[in-house]
Amino acid sequence: MGSIILSTAKWIAIVVVVLIVVLVVGVTLVPPVTRRFTDRWGATAAEHSAAYPGDDLFPATREISTKAITIAAPPETVYALVQQMGQHRGGWYGWDWFYNLTKSSDFVDGHYSTRIVPELQGVAVGDKIAINDMVAYDVVVADPGRALVLATGSLKAADLPMLSEPDHPRLKKYTHPATLTWSATIAAHDAFVIVTPEYNHGAPPALINALDQLYQEWNYKPAGFVSYGGVSAGLRSAAMTKSILTTLKVVPIVETVAIPHFPTLLDRETGRFMGSEGLEKSAVAMLKELARWAGALRTLRA
Ligand SMILES: Cc1cc2nc3c(=O)[nH]c(=O)nc-3n(C[C@H](O)[C@H](O)[C@H](O)COP(=O)(O)O)c2cc1C
Repeated sequence: MGSIILSTAKWIAIVVVVLIVVLVVGVTLVPPVTRRFTDRWGATAAEHSAAYPGDDLFPATREISTKAITIAAPPETVYALVQQMGQHRGGWYGWDWFYNLTKSSDFVDGHYSTRIVPELQGVAVGDKIAINDMVAYDVVVADPGRALVLATGSLKAADLPMLSEPDHPRLKKYTHPATLTWSATIAAHDAFVIVTPEYNHGAPPALINALDQLYQEWNYKPAGFVSYGGVSAGLRSAAMTKSILTTLKVVPIVETVAIPHFPTLLDRETGRFMGSEGLEKSAVAMLKELARWAGALRTLRA
């Protein structure tokens, strides 16, 4: 009897060890080997190395995945289907059961749409496309028939509550889903551009709150500013934020985009920001410097 129990325990131990080895090998060795394939699924070498709309917006991109598929339909039709994707929208053209499980569903047709949904067309820059109740992408380029570029990182999309985590962010013991999502967003980036107005000669509370939520995720990364306001161009807001950033070990860079009298640069009919040649030059200088610092600081985090 004793030897039967012993041998059963031995077999269970062997199975557990084998499962752990398979899991460790699967998680650590398989992705690097298959990445070359999965990151380029369907794309030719030329497509993989080509430049795409939105590349210039992310100069310090760490991981690039270029996938391609040929669809026998005019570009306008493909664009119409792509722009209607999302939670509470046309779906993800994948396994609906999976998106139901991950609470990314509630699609307008009850399943992913197999038609062009008229009320979901006309997506514009500044619109939000929700992934689930916690995460939404911002539309940053909407060029019908050519390109739709989405990005994360906006405070509006992050929808953070006022800081109420029980532990100091240094410990990373987050309890709120919004903090966990914000942590993953900031951890995934090498550099930041902080776009901020000025309130009462200072930084907006929502910005300070977003900075305070985390610590390690910010460390050893650079940040540039696009500030806007009245005659001060939001510079006092940026200056105040810079002193907070230094305590988070973020390097605030000197080159900046400062926009005075912000409302005068909005198109009266569309409400879109018009910009100017001078501001564009400042933006290029700021982004170039940001990319240099991003490269240098990456070595500190290695
Ligand atoms: C409460 C409050 C205080 C403001 N204080 C300043 C200020 O000190 N200096 C400034 O240049 N603009 C100030 N403004 C103007 C804002 O910078 C301007 O309205 C800006 O467009 C607000 O950006 P938002 O609409 O993205 O919040 C203030 C606006 C508000 C609502």
